Amino acid sequence: MNNFQYHNPVRIVFGEGQIRELSKLVPTDARVLITYGGGSAKRTGTLDEVKDALNAEGSKREIFEFGGIEPNPEFTTLMQAADMVNKHNIDFILAVGGGSVIDGSKFVALVSHLTEEDGDTSNSDISQRVSRDKAWDALTSYTKNINSAIDLGAVLTIPATGSEMNSGGVINYNERQAKLPFGNPLAYPKFSILDPTKTLTLPERQVMNGVADAFVHVMEQYLTYPVNAKVQDAFAESLLKILITEGRAVKANPDDLEVRKNIMWTATMALNGLIGTGVPQDWTTHMIGHELTSLHGIDHARTLTIVLPSLMRELKDSKQDKLLQYARNVWGISAEDMKDNDEAIEQAIVRTENFFKELGLPINFADANLDETAIDPIIKQLEAHGMTKLGEHKTNDLEVSSRILQRAAHA
Ligand code: NZQ
Ligand code: ZN
Repeated sequence: MNNFQYHNPVRIVFGEGQIRELSKLVPTDARVLITYGGGSAKRTGTLDEVKDALNAEGSKREIFEFGGIEPNPEFTTLMQAADMVNKHNIDFILAVGGGSVIDGSKFVALVSHLTEEDGDTSNSDISQRVSRDKAWDALTSYTKNINSAIDLGAVLTIPATGSEMNSGGVINYNERQAKLPFGNPLAYPKFSILDPTKTLTLPERQVMNGVADAFVHVMEQYLTYPVNAKVQDAFAESLLKILITEGRAVKANPDDLEVRKNIMWTATMALNGLIGTGVPQDWTTHMIGHELTSLHGIDHARTLTIVLPSLMRELKDSKQDKLLQYARNVWGISAEDMKDNDEAIEQAIVRTENFFKELGLPINFADANLDETAIDPIIKQLEAHGMTKLGEHKTNDLEVSSRILQRAAHA
């Protein structure tokens, strides 16, 4: 196991009815900006529940709202939210939604107070304080220059990304055809409320997307090479097995709250840093997936299920030990029962594909109505975004990414 430090400051408040805890979690004199997405929070009554809790007896809070944060949150929309933060002197942002709203709100929390040396700090319009380039670059250079942020809390309505308990996010910038990740410890939410009943209103497609996203998060921290990290491996394998059983269960019985509870906590555990401590990681599937979203508008999770099986086949030699461990411990396939190692690995990949298919997810280009012509533009974007040395050995260059995509195109 490699050396590591682990610190996660996010308070998780889990369970039915826990939105009422907002009355204690948000400072009573805060100027709160509630951020939400395209309308589900309003439609389902969650927004009203949130406002009722914030306005509980004795509250001196002032409440403002910013709706319309898109799936794959858009830079220009978020800059408008930053304007609102400055105009109303907001000192607490409360994100109500999924990964997109929470990621977008982290961005707003980080950039709202950014200023350039010659920027006009008295102006609430963020475009007068900082150029778009500076705001974008601050993020894509991993927010290194940002050393203060507005406090943030979250009410999670879709289990998938783990954003509720991590310090990262992914922002889309249409104008630049870019969807890029950022991370900053200041972006950890102060708390996240996980009420599993809130997930019952999700369309089936979003539920399945969430299971797949969490599954691939675990895989990207697990499927590298062994470093004898027994805790991380056993946790990762358990999370994968839970996602397989509960993914099937939620498809068969979408109203089963016990299943929803387990999916929600599993998705959080999949990307709160714990299973990734002290082990090598390989985020190639995500980095290629982000380009597929920004070029073709494919849902985040679906880009991952398109790429992962082909990545596993392309990298089966360098990942052999972990692939065999995955076959054995997650799918119950042992190399001894097979002709050879290759057959055990192929079986595990096919079982993974079949699981994705059961959930109605695409596993190759054809399933997403893409063909070979999609490859070149993706490779160009990977190059433009510096994604040229991916993987646990930093050896997944553009040639390797291209071969992975060729496999996905011809699968
Ligand atoms: O916008 P509204 O109307 O709210 O509808 C949303 C949206 O259309 C809907 N929804 C959410 N909760 C609902 C609901 N509909 C009915 N009932 C509810 N309770 O679901 C749709 C998808 O929402 P979104 O937030 O986009 O989904 P998700 O949580 O999957 O987030 C995806 C984003 O997170 C990023 C992705 O790249 C993508 O941009 N990621 C963030 C990560 C992180 N911060 O660590 C890691 C991930 O790998 C991922 O990259
Ligand atoms: Zn993801």
